[in-house]
Amino acid sequence: MGLYKFKKINGEKVLIYDNMKIKVLIDEKKLRRRVRELGQEITRDYKDRNPVLVSVLRGSFIFIADICREIKIPVTFDFMAVSSYGNSKASSGIVRITKDLEFSIENKEVIIIEDIVDSGRTLNYLVKNLQARNPKNIEVCALLDKDVPRKTENKVKYKGFDIPNKFVVGYGLDFEEKYRNFPFLGYIENEQ
Ligand code: IMP
Ligand code: MG
Repeated sequence: MGLYKFKKINGEKVLIYDNMKIKVLIDEKKLRRRVRELGQEITRDYKDRNPVLVSVLRGSFIFIADICREIKIPVTFDFMAVSSYGNSKASSGIVRITKDLEFSIENKEVIIIEDIVDSGRTLNYLVKNLQARNPKNIEVCALLDKDVPRKTENKVKYKGFDIPNKFVVGYGLDFEEKYRNFPFLGYIENEQ
């Protein structure tokens, strides 16, 4: 895999990179396969409809680029950016829209494309915010669902993977804005 040099340590694939020890959680092939399945599901469910895919930047930019090519119906796109984390691994708890949609979603069928649901605060905020704009309906497609205790249930209809409560990077997700370009999903074991 190019310049990424993996080591096998106790049967696990580990990448020593940028002074970090990163373990592979979901490899490229598994991501591709699951994203294809999700795209096929959406294609089936939305047959003869024209949903708008609302992608939440920046974390979902790779996911939306991949899943949209597996969706074989006429979809449109819009992008939003929110910030809920500072520059660390801990949630600040505050959700702020830093870039709003370009188009109205009134009477539209919306599919939110998210990278990961952690505490669920970002998603809850987004759904509430978009619901207030009177769309026809809203569904949520999230690549990852982290195993954390939550007070409220999230309305994720299309879910890629359940993952353990670890800080993950790659396939769009970052640690301090880095590692988004890993083609796999990994987690930071510890800093070297
Ligand atoms: P939530 O509001 O706690 O659900 O967090 C949502 C946002 O935090 C996600 O959309 C990500 O951008 C970011 N996030 C949460 N967990 C992780 C992680 O493990 N790695 C990288 N980013 C994360
Ligand atoms: Mg995000």
